[in-house]
Amino acid sequence: MKTRDILIIAAAAVVIVMLCSFAVHNDSGKDDDEGYIGIIGAMDVEVDGLKSIMDVEKVETVAGMEYYMGTLHGDKIVVVKCGMGKVNAGICAHTMINKFHVKCIINTGVAGCLDSGLDIGDIVISTKALQHDFDVTPLGFKKGEIPYTGLVEFPADRDLIDKLHHAINTSVIGITVKEGVICTGDQFINTIEQKERILNDFGDGLCCEMEGGAIAQVCYLNDVPFVILRCLSDDAEGSAPEDYPAFERMAAMRNIVVLEHMLKEF
Ligand code: ADE
Repeated sequence: MKTRDILIIAAAAVVIVMLCSFAVHNDSGKDDDEGYIGIIGAMDVEVDGLKSIMDVEKVETVAGMEYYMGTLHGDKIVVVKCGMGKVNAGICAHTMINKFHVKCIINTGVAGCLDSGLDIGDIVISTKALQHDFDVTPLGFKKGEIPYTGLVEFPADRDLIDKLHHAINTSVIGITVKEGVICTGDQFINTIEQKERILNDFGDGLCCEMEGGAIAQVCYLNDVPFVILRCLSDDAEGSAPEDYPAFERMAAMRNIVVLEHMLKEF
């Protein structure tokens, strides 16, 4: 082969490599070939803010849940309202993973306060999530232990935790934020007795809600990283039924601000 031919082939190879690299990057310089970031909220108010600012490419419905697929700040995201409770949340997380092949899941929403150092409007990021209403103790398992996993608490992903923490510190400045255990159950907690039971059983929960622990379990079983972001809407005591509707929107929107900020730098 002549030198000239070799040079032409080499130049063509360089152009092909450059074109391929260009094709997998979008305008923001983020990779297009990466999977979606799954974002799950239980209520409309917890996800509508994201749906309204993302570029929606398509919507798919599975088991009555509408998955909004598209981009925000160059990140591929799929956003869904799963409805209240652990069964809805588990179905949704499983669909996110099996059908949409998400690379991670973020659960966003409001929560009741379990920690005396926190107040309505403060933010909790999960380090772990557990199911406070899961009880197979008569068969010798620990309180909250999910049989045959050996676990009571499912660990959240450290990188996602740090990304959220950074986004909080640079967006909703001045808000108290704690990392810790999130306690999930199919109950709206609104008495001191219920709170004390959870804290007696599990010690160090920061907040209570109704979906995170189920999403955590599904992610753990599928080896998909997750994190839970919760802003407190009530104190999970006697005034919770009035405080929840009064502060739900404020708390849910605070999370949306944080998530939008996080996605800018994802
Ligand atoms: N979500 C918001 N507040 C809650 C509470 N008090 N109990 C369970 N889930 C909640």
